[in-house]
Amino acid sequence: MPFSAIEVERCRMDFPALVRAENGVPLAFLDGPAGSQVPERVIAAVAQYYRTCNANTHGAFVTSRESDGMIAGARAAVAAFLGAPSWREISFGANMTTLNFALAHAIGREMEAGDEVVITELDHEANRGPWLGLRERGVVVREVALLPDGRLDADDMRRKITARTRVVAIGYSSNALGTVNDVPLARELARAVGARLVVDAVHYAPHFPLDVAALDPDFLLCSAYKFYGPHVGILYARPGALDRLRTDKLRTQEDAVPYRIETGTLNHAAIAGVKAAVEYIASWGEGATLRERLVSAMTAIGAREHELAAFYWDSVRKLPGVTAWGQDFSSPRRAPTISVTIAGVRPDAAAAALGEKGLLVWDGDFYAARAIEVLGLAERGGVLRTGISMYNTSAEVERLLAAVAELAAR
Ligand SMILES: Cc1ncc(COP(=O)(O)O)c(C=O)c1O
Repeated sequence: MPFSAIEVERCRMDFPALVRAENGVPLAFLDGPAGSQVPERVIAAVAQYYRTCNANTHGAFVTSRESDGMIAGARAAVAAFLGAPSWREISFGANMTTLNFALAHAIGREMEAGDEVVITELDHEANRGPWLGLRERGVVVREVALLPDGRLDADDMRRKITARTRVVAIGYSSNALGTVNDVPLARELARAVGARLVVDAVHYAPHFPLDVAALDPDFLLCSAYKFYGPHVGILYARPGALDRLRTDKLRTQEDAVPYRIETGTLNHAAIAGVKAAVEYIASWGEGATLRERLVSAMTAIGAREHELAAFYWDSVRKLPGVTAWGQDFSSPRRAPTISVTIAGVRPDAAAAALGEKGLLVWDGDFYAARAIEVLGLAERGGVLRTGISMYNTSAEVERLLAAVAELAAR
């Protein structure tokens, strides 16, 4: 099934927030990379859990058993979303950053002074900070260079991954520039030296079908609030990868995967919403299995988002005084996230002016602080970022273009 303008209009009816207006102007939610809106089905699943079954896990009574079943079902749904073999590979946490700190801490316990971790200059701090923290243990952290065109330097990656590398931590797609990184190359280089591969798929997951079986990372993380779900972090661990890791855990906590990295009580209601979000995405696809429907839906949604983002990219960069950063849209391997700067207008002032017109876009570095520094944009307040989600229309993008043109012409 294609995801055309008709489907966009249909899907918009599922998201209650999209009807919101401010000062008589409808809000255009172009802030998806920072978190997407949620469909009614997700809201209903969260409310239903609280209404009927709010309980802790592993009890001898009905609501606890139902909670266990719901969480297992949510893990299975996420496994289908990621292309994982089973629910056992899926752990939940507060958010991606918290899970990645837990992971880095556990892996760090196995490392010795002089061991190396390779991170990238393009990544969000959530996939840099936890690894940089290992320097306290004498671990050496090396950074793959970002090129001015928004791509990682593949030759630099080849140079920096060596026999001393124990972990390669790389983003799948940049939340600042929309670049899709060459993760298969990182996997090949990491495997050749026996290093673990940790992939931050937070920005990739809302825009492309994921297939961990084909990509074969040791660990992959994402966050449901970026793909129409509640605030829940997700960790995929390759079968066997988490089993013996010395995670921070209580004596009373289960040793088995996927629980051994899940400290304390999870947000059950939000997890009910994660399952509903995955099912919602699948409802836009075709196929006999949940996995088939998810791949079909994500392929169609991603293609439509790419088309709209490409239109914005082509139009905005023609405006006098506007610079668009990162890769163009000639390849389908480009996330629909576009960052620009406008000569003479600081990004925060631009975002505030657009916000007044109901155009919700972000300014700054979005925690991709190193990338913004390397591009020489930190002192200038970073960039102005627009993200396209499944519910964005060409009319919203036209409105944004007109408003950016007005700012650039001032
Ligand atoms: C690419 C990327 N990685 C990691 C994160 C952090 O995710 P979380 O908020 O779930 O910790 C974000 C959040 O914006 C992100 O965009």
